[in-house]
Amino acid sequence: MCGIVGYAGNRQAAPILLEGLSKLEYRGYDSAGICVHGVKEMQVAKAKGRLQVLCDKTENGQAVPGCVGIGHTRWATHGAPSDVNSHPHVSDSGKISVVHNGIIENEAKLRAQLLEKGVKFHSETDTEVVANLVGYYYEQTGNFIGAVRQALPRLEGSYALGILCTDLPDTIVAAKKDSPLIFGYGDGENYIASDVPAILKHTQTVSYMEDGEMVVFNNKSVRFFDFVGEPIEKKVETITWELSAAERGGFDHFMLKEIFEQPKALRDTLSPRLKNGEIVLDGIDLSAEYLKDVRKIYLVACGSAYYVSVLAKYIIEKACRIPTEAVMASEFRYSDPVVDEHNLVIIISQSGETADTLAALREAKRLGAKTLAVVNVVGSAIAKTADQTIYTWAGPEIAVATTKAFSTQLAVVYLLAAYMAKQLGTMDDETYGAWVEALEALPGAAEQILTKENVEKVQYYASRYYGHHDAFYIGRNVDSAICLEGSLKLKEVAYLHSEAYPAGELKHGPISLIENGTLVVALATVQPLFDKTMANVREVKARGADVLCVTLQETAEEAAKQADGILTVPTILPVLQPSLTLIPLQLFSYYVALNRGCDVDKPRNLAKSVTVE
Ligand code: G6P
Repeated sequence: MCGIVGYAGNRQAAPILLEGLSKLEYRGYDSAGICVHGVKEMQVAKAKGRLQVLCDKTENGQAVPGCVGIGHTRWATHGAPSDVNSHPHVSDSGKISVVHNGIIENEAKLRAQLLEKGVKFHSETDTEVVANLVGYYYEQTGNFIGAVRQALPRLEGSYALGILCTDLPDTIVAAKKDSPLIFGYGDGENYIASDVPAILKHTQTVSYMEDGEMVVFNNKSVRFFDFVGEPIEKKVETITWELSAAERGGFDHFMLKEIFEQPKALRDTLSPRLKNGEIVLDGIDLSAEYLKDVRKIYLVACGSAYYVSVLAKYIIEKACRIPTEAVMASEFRYSDPVVDEHNLVIIISQSGETADTLAALREAKRLGAKTLAVVNVVGSAIAKTADQTIYTWAGPEIAVATTKAFSTQLAVVYLLAAYMAKQLGTMDDETYGAWVEALEALPGAAEQILTKENVEKVQYYASRYYGHHDAFYIGRNVDSAICLEGSLKLKEVAYLHSEAYPAGELKHGPISLIENGTLVVALATVQPLFDKTMANVREVKARGADVLCVTLQETAEEAAKQADGILTVPTILPVLQPSLTLIPLQLFSYYVALNRGCDVDKPRNLAKSVTVE
């Protein structure tokens, strides 16, 4: 949550900072601010609300002179969104200004100590403590970099910090622990940012900062240190993807663009790992000898990645016959889990920086389990911490509600399940061959769903049902797991109250909520359970529900006898079916949200990267 940028060069900083922040809004968008060293003085501009409010206030940055500055887009943790609580925060002395992504866990203690020394606070944020702590040391020593070095070891929690000092107006100091930070090398100018898209327009040459590292830079020079002050050499890397990958490219919203990118994302994730009828997982060490000793597999994640984990339980147990459990990362950590070296813990995360997921990963390692991460963001904290990492090659996902990252995470689960099953000998050659073949066909099948005709059908149902107040997603087996994700999407982007239940569980309580006009989205793609799901559809119809059913071509006619609306998906190997069932559900949420006038890419109260517990 929260994104930071910094620029030191010869051009006007404010427009560059605001443009960079626009690429980080997915990390938080309840307020924003910049601080720039002008010709004579430091100038701070902040505004509650979307970045656009700040852009309007500063004439897109033109009204703020100066060539060195820092910027921030916020997702509130300490203190409600307001002008005062927005970053940058300036020290009581007026000399130090700070932008911060992360959370300072011991802020109350530090605040009390500084108050005792007569330092005054003006906001409710944890970040102001950082500004005042650096400010306090600076007052004593007059050494800016030394003051930052003194302050850092006193901060508990996570941070990516960008810091300015009025007495050294050409310099930015930045430091990192447990929140992402990238340094960008320009020509006569240099940058920092929380994520690559913020600076990609200006440079493709970057260094990924590691925990415990700080950087001191101006327009000409850059020096990296550890927190003690020892100089370090950084690896310089080239970003290979284009800026267009992080732009809307003709689509009205990132969410729609990313839904349509799924066939490509699936291809990019699957093709390099499917070679001559075999699943090849380069660099992954899961030997038969090791797997035979695994008593239980845990899948640990948050949000949609947790729902991938719920699906993975069905898939891995079916393929490998190893008991498998999906656990929410926020619960795993504090539940005293029965985990030791006989467990494989699979961590799933798009961003690779979700605080609860990272903490759960560390706990699993501490308990002695082997850990394997499925991650989208290269070089992220989770990718680096896990024993082994498999990347999903979804490309940058900007919309807050995940779509293509979910699909590729699921694709990696299929690869892993079949790979492990082959090692274990729990899958015969014929079945293995069928999985590989179906995985090869998956991107093409996803493409078939995204035709104009199919999309228009979803649009039609969205326009018919968007006014409903409550929705229930029901299904059995893997359909019940994909219901969870479909229902979450509707809540997230359309603000429509929605719940998901295994269809057979409905009559144990939730059916009491079904009345005239309740929307029920019934998934009926698991052939052997089709009749049972249809029986549940009849039950809700009898109580007045409007039923939209997602099913296979083969069962569409039968389903139409009960349901009010039908969407069909191509038939594929049953275990892979959820990958296809998901797509109309994503589109349905998107179009319902549009009909309800919601801000699809930036839903209220949410952030894409949740780096606080
Ligand atoms: C947030 C996002 C979700 C995501 C979850 C886990 O809630 O809005 O889309 O599923 O975090 O994020 P991760 O990056 O760990 O997959």
